[in-house]
Amino acid sequence: MEKQRNAILTMDDGRTVELPILSGTLGPDVVDIRNLSKLGVFTYDPAFFATASCTSKITFIDGDAGLLYYRGYPIEQLAEKSDFLEVSYLLLNGELPTAAQKAEFVAKVKDHTMVHEQLARFRRDAHPMAVMIGVVGALSAFYHDSLDINSPEDREISAIRLIAKVPTIAAMAHKYHTGMPFMYPKNKFGYVENFLYMMFATPADENDTPNPLLVRALERILILHADHEQNASTSTMRLAGSSGASPFACIASGIASLWGPAHGGANEAALKMLEEIGDVSRVPEYVQGVKDKKYKLMGFGHRVYKNMDPRANVMRETCYEVLKELNLENDKLFALAMELEKTALRDPYFIERKLYPNVDFYSGIVLRALGIPMNMFTVMFAVARTIGWISQWSEMIGDEDHKIGRPRQLYQGAVKRDFPAKR
Ligand code: ACO
Repeated sequence: MEKQRNAILTMDDGRTVELPILSGTLGPDVVDIRNLSKLGVFTYDPAFFATASCTSKITFIDGDAGLLYYRGYPIEQLAEKSDFLEVSYLLLNGELPTAAQKAEFVAKVKDHTMVHEQLARFRRDAHPMAVMIGVVGALSAFYHDSLDINSPEDREISAIRLIAKVPTIAAMAHKYHTGMPFMYPKNKFGYVENFLYMMFATPADENDTPNPLLVRALERILILHADHEQNASTSTMRLAGSSGASPFACIASGIASLWGPAHGGANEAALKMLEEIGDVSRVPEYVQGVKDKKYKLMGFGHRVYKNMDPRANVMRETCYEVLKELNLENDKLFALAMELEKTALRDPYFIERKLYPNVDFYSGIVLRALGIPMNMFTVMFAVARTIGWISQWSEMIGDEDHKIGRPRQLYQGAVKRDFPAKR
């Protein structure tokens, strides 16, 4: 057995404590600071710059080397060789499925794509992300028959329901927003094909089969966004789930956290930014505004990747393919995006801060080329990330040692004072 390694912390009053050093299978060692409570002090790391919040076996990222693995498999290989449901099975179960396991998993997902007709209705002009948060959370009201989170069977059926129903709800959010009739799922289609069908087909269509190129492009987008270890929305979801809340409510909390422009909302924000710049000639002026800290370059930068986001490489390629196939190679916004990328990557401001385009810099362009409306971009991300969230939730609840998450704080408010006798 390997000898336990320790870090020794000495306080300014001379007291010391031994902190065990833990090693993962990959990645940096972590110092287990739980013994600090013996000294009556806490650690302070508000945005988790240097804190591992859990143990996980699902996704590995090496931000400096630009690596992303799902259950050990590099993202580039999965994007090229796998499909979204297979990746979903892998994330959820830890291994790639055999042919029989895959067929069973796909059939189970197909069995659960419909949603209850009584699911809440919203204002027609609501942002589809607002609808997603509400409706996915409301699933808890419909499936309370199987919400014993301590039962592996209940956890599995909840996972399947979420993977199956979230695309249906996403497509309904779009149809509702645009005043179009809902298109019920069709089991003759594959998962992504069915999603595009529900999004875009109408009852009047003679040919309602989605374009295979668009299916493949969206499949890639879903795979690339399926999981990303302990990011903001996953951590939100884990914290919500740590209290034993319903998995549907936990996923709704993940969707809420994803919505912000610093996270999943970046794809929508990046495209809005490109539209605002409008023309290649305005790129230098816009970049100057970023350097003057008037605004951020949306779709650039990442807390973990300080080299290149490996998903961005795959997405850039997909971007070329899709635009070529759709004869949009001279697309103005794409040309603008390329110029912006080139200018930023040459500029010391971005080089010094290790700011590179992230996956969402390109995904907005691809989604737009696929005909997905801008207000649905983050919803696409949520559809993909649902499998990551539910896999991480399942891992956490399945761990017998898991406890409610409860961060501490550094209090800097008023010291004790008495309520004034007279005011
Ligand atoms: N444009 C311009 N400057 C930036 C950007 C950017 N996009 N991102 C970071 N910086 C600058 C900061 O101003 C800061 O500069 P300073 O040292 O002079 O103060 C420095 O780079 C470090 O930035 P932080 O904000 O400390 O980095 P952090 O890790 O907290 O933020 C984040 C990461 C939120 C992703 C940030 O880069 C950002 O807001 N990017 C734009 C939004 C975006 O694309 N988000 C998507 C993330 S990927 C995803 O969720 C799929």
